[in-house]
Amino acid sequence: MNYPFLMLSNNRKKRDEIFKELDSLQQRDFSFSSGHILGSMCTQPHPIAHEAYIRFLETNLGDPELCPGTKEIESRFIAFISKLLHAPKTAVGQIVSGGTEGNITAIWIAKQLSGKHDVVLPESAHFSFQKIASLMDMKLMEVPLTNDYIMDIQQMKKKIHKDTAAVIGIAGSTELGAIDPIPEMSEICTDEHLFFHVDAAFGGFVIPFLKELRYKVPDFDFQLKGVCSVSIDSHKMGFSAIPLGTLMIRQRQWLDCISVESPYISSEKQSGILGTRSGAPVAAAYAVARYLGHTGYRNMVKSCMDVTKYTEEQITELGLSPVIKPTMNVLGVKLKKPSRIVKKLFEQGWRVNKVDRLSCIRLVLMPQITKQIIDEFIPVLQKTCEEEGEL
Ligand SMILES: Cc1ncc(COP(=O)(O)O)c(C=O)c1O
Repeated sequence: MNYPFLMLSNNRKKRDEIFKELDSLQQRDFSFSSGHILGSMCTQPHPIAHEAYIRFLETNLGDPELCPGTKEIESRFIAFISKLLHAPKTAVGQIVSGGTEGNITAIWIAKQLSGKHDVVLPESAHFSFQKIASLMDMKLMEVPLTNDYIMDIQQMKKKIHKDTAAVIGIAGSTELGAIDPIPEMSEICTDEHLFFHVDAAFGGFVIPFLKELRYKVPDFDFQLKGVCSVSIDSHKMGFSAIPLGTLMIRQRQWLDCISVESPYISSEKQSGILGTRSGAPVAAAYAVARYLGHTGYRNMVKSCMDVTKYTEEQITELGLSPVIKPTMNVLGVKLKKPSRIVKKLFEQGWRVNKVDRLSCIRLVLMPQITKQIIDEFIPVLQKTCEEEGEL
């Protein structure tokens, strides 16, 4: 095609001007590659994700018959996730933009199937459930946590009643990476015939490999017969590009209750929240999954856990303490004034997150964080804590 407006070379000056503006604004961003983002659950995408992403920029999986090849990539990727989570043959996968959309979609299904309005969830659940309550006019029945910061089963039983639409278990909490007692919750939900959704947005790409590395972690996936759906994010520990998550659903036909007829496009029905959606993050996530494979992910998780242990040792040596012994690569560090420390670290070019509720800061030891980066960070943390009277 030779349309003049497509030819960047026709107006090189304008192109250069635009990139100058974009580049200068981008310079204000923190980058994962700098290693200075220690508080995010997202990651510097694997290089193969980067390459795959840009090749699929113009694809639209909302109109899949326009891109049967990309649709096949999506099917292959879902097959990978399905295997990882031991999903049964009856299961179906729905690509979503991340944990928020995965949780919304799961609870939408639970509400449609049950016609009920209450969601029983631990206090540690991600704030996306607040959005769910508001969007779908549902009531959140929050359950207090045990001393290990996981769902208290006895308290949970008390919250279940005749208007319960769903129970939520967290497999890798946002604050501390803690894993709820999913097997016990699954049993209760089976007995009570309740929809049980597991939010494994972070832990889904960690727990299967922790098990293989002989860490003691509970089962959390479709091996447990009470588990109805699981959300898992590739843009977190899947080491891929934003935005990509998958919601795996035990029974294909459950998707029907959130499907609509889709005139104007080539497929007959569309399920889920989004219409137009890019195939680029799907191609990226599939490329990473193919490139790393099961063994590659296991090695990555091992390395993240090594760095986590190292960081825990370093902060303990400083005289600070973890909130809990880390279950996965998330480390809460107790502080008297976390907001103050986060602000001071920010001024020195380091991004960590605070959890006021637990009076701690949260470090997430993602794949790009090495022991060398921790060695750079610890003296800064020490000095800051000394200046602020934490040490
Ligand atoms: C456990 C959990 N669920 C859901 C989410 C929301 O994910 P997203 O921001 O990708 O929508 C997060 C985000 O950190 C999370 O940790």
